[in-house]
Amino acid sequence: MNNFLNIAHRGASGYCPENTMAAFKRAIELGANGIETDVQMTADGHLVLIHDEGLQRTAGSPKRVKDVTLEELRTLDAGSWYDPSFAGERVPTLRELLELVLPTSVQVNIELKNGIVQYPGLEEAVIQEVRELGLSDRIIISSFNHYSLVKCKQLAPEIRTGVLYMEGLYEPWKYAAGLGADALHPHYFAVLPEWVAASAEQNIAYHPFTVNKEEDMKRLLEAGVAAIITDYPDKLGSLLQVKNK
Ligand code: G3P
Ligand code: MG
Repeated sequence: MNNFLNIAHRGASGYCPENTMAAFKRAIELGANGIETDVQMTADGHLVLIHDEGLQRTAGSPKRVKDVTLEELRTLDAGSWYDPSFAGERVPTLRELLELVLPTSVQVNIELKNGIVQYPGLEEAVIQEVRELGLSDRIIISSFNHYSLVKCKQLAPEIRTGVLYMEGLYEPWKYAAGLGADALHPHYFAVLPEWVAASAEQNIAYHPFTVNKEEDMKRLLEAGVAAIITDYPDKLGSLLQVKNK
């Protein structure tokens, strides 16, 4: 289990407002060796970390990410919706997260949120930032937009890609191989031990999301997955310690 990835979903989002620097820092404090985040693009082309296409739920504005500049976005409070103690948290840039992990060995799963809004140039911009910081070998780019994954692999063969999906793919390891991808990122219902084994034979890793109950974590660890994406990296860390004893 040495290379196992304990990936904090949107940072330690079980304890902090998702996709904020507070959540990313807490994830590292809690022992995560991976952080998952969602990337979108502002009207003026900046890469920012936020899950929804609209700003209402987590930043209290009726506008969409694609329609605001970074300057306007940075005036919004991305912490208060979760708890007043997080007032003043901002929507971070991808650069801020990459600089946070740079001195550590933490890996980053960058999910391209381009299934609904397309964001022309998103793939190129993400790859450029990753390369500028020399982090290519610590990044997994994932997306529900599989055309985008193929594009990323063509642009940057050295960066791993992961195929996000909910359910129902037949022999998903063959599908992933066809996309040139390195991993499957299924909803955690869509994982059986025999599928994990068949994937491993093709060098395709299983990284299920979003696994928050211990019983599900245990089942998936038994199935041999290579990573788990969770809101509670501390819970997963405790199970891994028991397993490694
Ligand atoms: O990347 C795993 C997971 O984050 C995908 O779903 O909606 O939480 O971004 P969502
Ligand atoms: Mg995500």
